[in-house]
Amino acid sequence: MMNTQVLEIRKSLKKKLDPFRFEHTLGVAYTCQALAMRYEYDLQKAELAGLLHDCAKRFDNETMLLKCQKREIPMTDGELRDPSLLHAKLGAWYAREKYGIDDQEILTAIECHTTGKKDMSLLDKILYVADYIEPGRYKASELPAMRKLAFIDLDLACLSIMESILKYLESTNCPIDTTTIEACADMRRIVEEKQADKAISVREDNDPTSPTKEVTNVESVKRNGKNRRSRSRREKRRRH
Ligand SMILES: [Fe+2]
Ligand SMILES: [Fe+2]
Repeated sequence: MMNTQVLEIRKSLKKKLDPFRFEHTLGVAYTCQALAMRYEYDLQKAELAGLLHDCAKRFDNETMLLKCQKREIPMTDGELRDPSLLHAKLGAWYAREKYGIDDQEILTAIECHTTGKKDMSLLDKILYVADYIEPGRYKASELPAMRKLAFIDLDLACLSIMESILKYLESTNCPIDTTTIEACADMRRIVEEKQADKAISVREDNDPTSPTKEVTNVESVKRNGKNRRSRSRREKRRRH
């Protein structure tokens, strides 16, 4: 059943946003839901984050600066240098105050959808990636690969998008917001840790002398369950 809150928000955005921004918004909401299905996240929360992520993008830079000042929304040096970044923070404010969203996960995802941030939640990553790969996007050359990667490894897709954006900004000598750099470094750390973990797991599986290696036969599977050995090893690693 279609949620009435979603219908109302969609109706309001259709009136307020220009047709291209509105189409992009629908594309992001749709992609957020698809990624939420893949990564087992709440579909409705993902849709709301997608629908509202650019709700403040209808204002020009000067208006956004004034609105943020008036609402006492703190601004970073990077945002003062490039006020277009403010549509994310201001959008979170509108989502809460005008569209009645009180879910902090949704508000945070909207707030960091342009730059990313350290310690991104699953919804932060879903929205960040969906904004880049939604079906209406066509300019980035690596889009087909990025779209595929998003449904295989969300962290790696996030990192690839961040690196690609940073590379582009560097090539244009554009001043880069420190949050973007920190977000990328944090995501690189997460991806590298995951890859190291996977490499250890592969080595252990191929090492016949590994103390954790146990002969698998019908009897041991019956006794231990199919995933006992790999699960217990993963748990052991996580504890260190
Ligand atoms: Fe945006
Ligand atoms: Fe967007």
